[in-house]
Amino acid sequence: MEDDLSKDSVTRGLETRFIGQGVIYYSKIPSTMEVAKREAQQGAAEGTVVIAGEQTAGKGRIKRVWLSPKGCIALSIILYPKMAYLSSLIMVASLAVVHTIADVTGLRLQIKWPNDVLINSKKVCGILVESGVRDSSIDYAVIGIGINVNLKTADFTGISLPTTSLSDELGRDVSCLEITRRLLVEFEKLYLVVQSGETVYQEWRDSLNTLGKRVHARSGNKVYEGIAESVDEDGSLMLRCSDGSLIKLTAGDITLH
Ligand code: BTN
Repeated sequence: MEDDLSKDSVTRGLETRFIGQGVIYYSKIPSTMEVAKREAQQGAAEGTVVIAGEQTAGKGRIKRVWLSPKGCIALSIILYPKMAYLSSLIMVASLAVVHTIADVTGLRLQIKWPNDVLINSKKVCGILVESGVRDSSIDYAVIGIGINVNLKTADFTGISLPTTSLSDELGRDVSCLEITRRLLVEFEKLYLVVQSGETVYQEWRDSLNTLGKRVHARSGNKVYEGIAESVDEDGSLMLRCSDGSLIKLTAGDITLH
């Protein structure tokens, strides 16, 4: 499916106040994160979105590589949030993806802590939040979202985690333009909830596939094993270790048993 993710196609009649009202489109760049951070440092309007038709050096969490060939969605949203909202951005982004894909395709999704979006236990979307801090306040935050849309995952060797795409799940191609436009609307709705002082925590917690499960957790150089007992409102995972201790992980990566 040929998809035109140019500024005009994405913004035409887009029903948002500010998310996606400015779009910077490249058919091919190393990573939307680097462009978005540069734009943010130069004062781009809040909600500006950097979109790539293809990334040649996509960045994943924990210094991993993110594959985003043509047919997938790779975008970064520029925000200037208050420090207090920073931990909610991961929840906003993952829930926006869940709402969007469910509405457009009817597929059922889950979130693996902290922010992998899964279909049938396989990863379909990765989210990366990077921020700039100045004088102990947030200068900017860039929310990078990569969705495997029209991708034959079987053609890609060396992917360590179980991975899927919307086309693999549905047996047909899906419009990247429709998903992108819907995603920007859903993202703004949830971001406005957070900005109004409300929380999206309960819905995010209820969408996690992680709680009550035995997990391996990697945080920094450390590896832990235990039961994922709960998540805090700031997004941290509370892990009950085999020795009975409870530890709080603010970031990291988990593998479910
Ligand atoms: C992860 O799960 O490790 C996070 C993946 C984030 C990928 C997106 S694609 C758009 C943006 N640009 C990047 O280089 N990375 C993020």
